Amino acid sequence: MKTVKFFGLFLAALPFLGLAPRPTLAADPPADRGEYVARLGNCVACHSIPGAAPFSGGLKMATPLGAIYTTNITPDLKTGIGTYTFADFDRAMRLGVAKDGHYLYPAMPYPSYAKMNEEDMQALYGFLMKAVPAAEVANKPSEIPSPWNARWPLAIWNFVFANDERYEPEAGRDAAWNRGAYLVEGLGHCGACHTPRGFMFNEKGYGTDDGQFLIGAPLDNWSASNLRQDVNTGLGRWTQEDLTSFLKTGHNKFGTAFGTMTEVINNSTQYMSDADITAMASYLKSLPGGREKDTGSFVYDPATAKALQARDYSATGALTYAQQCVSCHLLDGAGHAPYLPPLAGNPVTVDPSPVSLINIVLNGSQRIVVDGMPDAYKMPQYRVLLSDQEIADAVTFIRSSWGNKSAKITAAAVAEIRKVTDPAGDQINILRMK
Ligand code: HEC
Ligand code: HEC
Ligand code: HEC
Repeated sequence: MKTVKFFGLFLAALPFLGLAPRPTLAADPPADRGEYVARLGNCVACHSIPGAAPFSGGLKMATPLGAIYTTNITPDLKTGIGTYTFADFDRAMRLGVAKDGHYLYPAMPYPSYAKMNEEDMQALYGFLMKAVPAAEVANKPSEIPSPWNARWPLAIWNFVFANDERYEPEAGRDAAWNRGAYLVEGLGHCGACHTPRGFMFNEKGYGTDDGQFLIGAPLDNWSASNLRQDVNTGLGRWTQEDLTSFLKTGHNKFGTAFGTMTEVINNSTQYMSDADITAMASYLKSLPGGREKDTGSFVYDPATAKALQARDYSATGALTYAQQCVSCHLLDGAGHAPYLPPLAGNPVTVDPSPVSLINIVLNGSQRIVVDGMPDAYKMPQYRVLLSDQEIADAVTFIRSSWGNKSAKITAAAVAEIRKVTDPAGDQINILRMK
């Protein structure tokens, strides 16, 4: 049995835990309308790779048939979209059809962007054509093997799954709610990660009428959590202010952004105006819970902290938690919110899909950068230090302690994610747009 050193660690960590909170002001929204729309749509996160010219494409994206690469959308005449008229651009954005007539894979979230209004589309086109420097970077061919790389079946896909109607304000809802719906369902394409996909990669719902919309989904070995009002696994206990704080700064008293959500905060939501963030929060707060079994709100149970304090490590994973995690997330699982996230009562810890939890413990997380300032704290990676079984046990422990109630995790589930993921790098993932 390993020796337990955590109290020493815990004491050593105290001074740094007491650090004064850093300011949490987020970046101001850009003054240029088109640039702001590009922020709302987070085009840069997919159409750029760190170190290369902004919007010159080249990001590898996994699809069920094989990897594809995002394209160059700078105004370069040879390799970008320099020859696109507004009508060509509008058709690509709403119908997923490129200028030369080929169909785009729905990895480009055109079924969401179709909801954009005319004014925003014009402003976005103006920004990409005039403010973004042209960069000559050739598009990479997809790695989808023949015959599946034929694009004509995407026309049928569009016919069955896509809907190119613009957002229509709902009568009986106020202006803020409608603005929030426009942003969440449309430009923000939140459903591209947070809505489960069917066997044809179609999102199972693109708006409020669909019960599966934003109910949470695994994508790229992260689980984008449930954004509906389910009380434990969703946002049922979050106030509107909790939501605005999370979207603006990546932090609140329930948790901290990690995984693919980091790029959303870093490159998009932090730039949104207060009015737009509030509108999105008010819309999200109106989505009813979708999971029937999620009842009985979280109640903090002091038994876990008492057992750890008494050095009782009989619970599965308790010893690993005590040795590796307690210095930051503490005996009572409360962390030091909003800088070191709590694990007790945090919706992500009880997510029915454990992939996010396994992934963050294996690989750590990339830094949130708000207003140019990288987060002081970072979740370490345990890929080398802990075995699959130890990680499975630690995750099982946090899912079943302090009042959290969620299913056990197996070593096999950890092994699977270990194989297909890499440690989060130390690079700061913040992308220039000009
Ligand atoms: C989730 C990732 C993602 C986001 C976000 C995204 N795109 Fe795309 N986009 C893609 C992919 C992938 C393709 C290429 C699809 C293909 O090759 O079939 C693409 C293709 C395009 C094309 C067609 C270009 C061509 O070469 O024919 C345009 C135009 C475009 N995107 C514009 C935008 C704009 C503007 C935004 C922001 C409002 C945006 N995209 C956001 C993934 C994304
Ligand atoms: C050095 C401090 C530190 C240690 C030790 C640590 N964590 Fe974390 N953990 C963090 C920080 C900071 C985050 C927030 C994500 C980020 O910014 O990297 C986090 C995030 C998490 C999350 C996601 C929760 C959320 O809402 O962001 C889980 C789950 C988690 N840690 C579990 C663990 C487990 C299990 C261990 C032990 C095996 C552990 N952590 C050890 C600092 C730590
Ligand atoms: C590229 C994928 C992706 C996109 C796009 C995305 N998210 Fe997320 N989101 C995630 C992942 C993964 C998590 C889980 C990790 C975490 O809690 O940060 C998450 C977590 C969240 C959480 C925290 C939930 C919780 O229980 O802790 C909120 C709130 C959220 N997203 C809101 C949004 C909104 C609003 C949008 C659209 C503007 C959006 N997300 C777009 C991937 C995404």
